[in-house]
Amino acid sequence: MKKFIIAMTALGLLGGAVAHAKTNPAQDLKEFRAYFFKKFPGVPLQEYANGIYGVNESRRVEWEATMEFPPFEPGVDAGQDLYNKYSKHFRKCFGNSAGKGIRQNYPYFDSKSGDIVTLEGAINDCLKKNGEKPLGWKKGKLAALVAYMASTSNGKAININVPNDKRALAWYERGKHHFYSKRGQLNLSCANCHVDSAGGQIRANILSPALGHVSHFPVYRKKWEARGSGVTGGFGTLHRRYGGCNKQVRAKPFKAQSDEYKALEYFHTYMSNGIKVNAPGVRQ
Ligand code: HEC
Repeated sequence: MKKFIIAMTALGLLGGAVAHAKTNPAQDLKEFRAYFFKKFPGVPLQEYANGIYGVNESRRVEWEATMEFPPFEPGVDAGQDLYNKYSKHFRKCFGNSAGKGIRQNYPYFDSKSGDIVTLEGAINDCLKKNGEKPLGWKKGKLAALVAYMASTSNGKAININVPNDKRALAWYERGKHHFYSKRGQLNLSCANCHVDSAGGQIRANILSPALGHVSHFPVYRKKWEARGSGVTGGFGTLHRRYGGCNKQVRAKPFKAQSDEYKALEYFHTYMSNGIKVNAPGVRQ
């Protein structure tokens, strides 16, 4: 195989594919932000935490009205009850913080295992280690628990580190690749909708900018509330949303907490570095 690649490169047939630029997350982030700042002049960085409401005035007015009595509050309270139930475990797993005020540092690359650790992953891992049943990944209890825990990080800037380690860079590249690859019957990438067409309209929806996308997860949605049950029914994690967006283009979604989505979350969250957590969010 190696010989084959060398031969192809010599012929100039693989060109860019082999000799692609060195992974440079800091440079990517600079360009990513600059693109949106140019596209939406005058919108300050922190406004991107508010999705479409940061860039569309009429939707913003509706959202501000919703936020007067946020529909997620009973669900966050339920999340806090769960937190209290498990806090003795969290003290063991997360040290002094007991899991509070840590949202902005997740997901992170763990150099011991070579894995990407998401907050949901760390929580379920902790529960299992302490003899509890792990919670379902995408909604309900875990989403409510993370909504509460994330809310204890509100105001703290997202701070994802991609260390200069081959394995971390490979995770980052994998996520970046997912983000920019066209997929599904509609043959659209995340970037086609949330970068190229951000602020534009698709059916009845305005498309949010990918910058700031992750700051407010888990999210509470009316659509999910109608399908769920109880006060936690409206919540969904970031990976639930990933699955929904993969399905929109008629691509087969990956499993929540699969390596593919962990990689995507790593890249996607890094791109929002510097934006303050404002969880949970409410969306249509
Ligand atoms: C066909 C266009 C389309 C594609 C492709 C697409 N999405 Fe979306 N996405 C939407 C729409 C529409 C919404 C709901 C309106 C909004 O917030 O942008 C949405 C919402 C989201 C949200 C929630 C935003 C918020 O403020 O809470 C995230 C996160 C997201 N998409 C991520 C992705 C990722 C990652 C991909 C690639 C795997 C992707 N999307 C692909 C159309 C798309």
